[in-house]
Order: sequence, then C-alpha cells, then structure tokens
Amino acid sequence: MTVNENGITVLNGNQKRNPQLDDIITIMGEASAFAQNLKQVITSPIRFFQTDQKMYIKSEGKHCLGILKIGRKNLFYRDLNGVIKEIQPICVLDFYVHESVQRKGIGKELFEEMLRQEMLRPEKLGYDRPSPKLLGFLKKYYNLQTYIPQNNNYVIYSQYFDNKQTNISQQQFAQKNHQQQQNPQLVNQQTQQQRVQPQQTPQKMDQLDQMMQQMTLESKQQYQSFQKSKAQPPWATDQKQFQNMYQTTTGLMSAQIHKK
Ligand code: ACO
Repeated sequence: MTVNENGITVLNGNQKRNPQLDDIITIMGEASAFAQNLKQVITSPIRFFQTDQKMYIKSEGKHCLGILKIGRKNLFYRDLNGVIKEIQPICVLDFYVHESVQRKGIGKELFEEMLRQEMLRPEKLGYDRPSPKLLGFLKKYYNLQTYIPQNNNYVIYSQYFDNKQTNISQQQFAQKNHQQQQNPQLVNQQTQQQRVQPQQTPQKMDQLDQMMQQMTLESKQQYQSFQKSKAQPPWATDQKQFQNMYQTTTGLMSAQIHKK
C-alpha cells in the first residue's frame, strides 16, 4: 500500500481490488464489528468495493493499526418541532483502532487526516450509530455533545445546522485555492478585475442618476396627459368620436319620440 507522509493510506471504493487489501479489510471489519458488539459485519471487501465510500488506513510497517470508513448518505432528519429535512452529509460509517493501541492518539490521527483531505469540520459529518467510545472521542476533541436522537440511528450534531456562512466561505476558499493551483494566471486576472471595479462605481452612479431623471420626466408627462383626459367625457377621447356619440344619442331620442 502507498502510505502518505502521515503513515496513512487512502482507499477508494471504486479502485481495483487485490487479495492483500481484501485480507486487511476483512480482518479489520470483523474486529470492528466484534468491538462494537454488532450482529453483522459492516465493513468487508464486498461492502466496500464498487461503492463511492472511502477508507483511511493507519499502518506501521506490516501492521494495520486502524481504519476509518466514510461515505455520503441521504438522510431524513427530524428537528424538535417535528419538521423533517433531507440532508446529504458525508458520514463516519465505521471507525476502529486495534485494542492493543487504543487511547494512544491513533484514532485522532486518522480522523484529522480524513477532515483535512475531505476539507470538512467534525460537526458537518453524520455518525452512523456511534459507540460510547466514539461519543467520548468527539466530546473530548471537538466538544460535540448536543444532538436530537433520530429513528435512523445516525447522529447529526446541532452545530451541523450552524455557521452556514462560514461553510460557504470555506468552500469558496477551497475553490480559490484549487483554481490557483490549476491556473495561477486566471486567478491573478480575476483579482485585478475585482480591484478595478471600485473605480467604476462613480461612473455607474452617474448613469443611475440620468436614468432616474428620465423616469421622472416620463412620469410627469404621463400625469399631465392623464389630467387632460379627465376633463373630457370618458367615451369621447377625440373630437370625431365625441361627434359620433352625440349623433347616436340624439338619433335614439328622436326615434323614441316618434314611437310615442
Ligand atoms: N472508553 C471510553 N472512551 C474511549 C475509549 C474507551 N475504552 N477509547 C477511546 N476513547 C475516547 C476517549 O475520549 C479517549 O480520551 P481519554 O483517553 O482521554 O479518555 C479518546 O477516545 C482517545 O482518543 P484516541 O487515542 O485518539 O482514540 P483511539 O485511538 O482509541 O480511537 C476509537 C478511538 C476509534 C473510538 C477506538 O477507541 C475504537 O476503535 N473503539 C472500538 C470501536 C468503536 O467503538 N468504534 C466506533 C464505532 S461507531 C462508528 O464507527 C460510526
């Protein structure tokens, strides 16, 4: 396995399988299920490969010390008022450090590596059926404590719904960083354009002023023509129409006199 500078390997569910990787996943998956007292193994090669999940593996030489499996889930979340929201967070699906090395900071190393690579904060993740150990871990390192229990057993901390602004600016920051790496010239051009914009503002104000004057003039003219039209009977907007109306009315009156 290729190990990064922090001694961690990242596996993608869509990558090619090999027998050694299968062995590691099988053994760690079974040990994790046993440690959590689960009736079913939730991490196995069949359940991992050909999915969009990711697995972070901590190893030392030929020893595998721990695994952390994540994946995006579509969840229905019910708040205190009973209102249901649909959310799609990345979730911690399985997390296990071998008993011989627990409480030595390996869990923290794995978790932090995942946060860095996924560019996430702990409160923006969902947690599938977290064990008391994981709840203690999240409280100790990230002060995560408050959540509303859900029927689906996923824990979404109340801070998940906070700081939308910060999250957006974080995304923008990440996007800009990415752009800068891909095309530094483009980012420089954009920054220059942003700098030029404030100088154009007075010009825009002048244009706006002219538009306002034009609109005032037009509405004045409309008002005057409206006042003029009020002086005439509503059915006679011009001279000819007025005459026609007069003739029709007198014609009808004389016809009635004749009839009588
Ligand atoms: N009892 C209570 N809290 C514990 C325990 C324990 N036996 N082990 C770890 N913790 C918590 C504590 O907050 C601890 O701090 P403390 O020692 O000051 O009390 C902190 O985690 C230690 O942090 P790390 O050393 O970085 O964590 P570790 O390497 O032990 O990994 C992990 C944490 C993954 C939860 C590990 O204990 C483990 O594998 N447990 C068994 C399997 C398990 O419960 N996994 C979580 C399943 S839920 C899910 O995956 C969504």
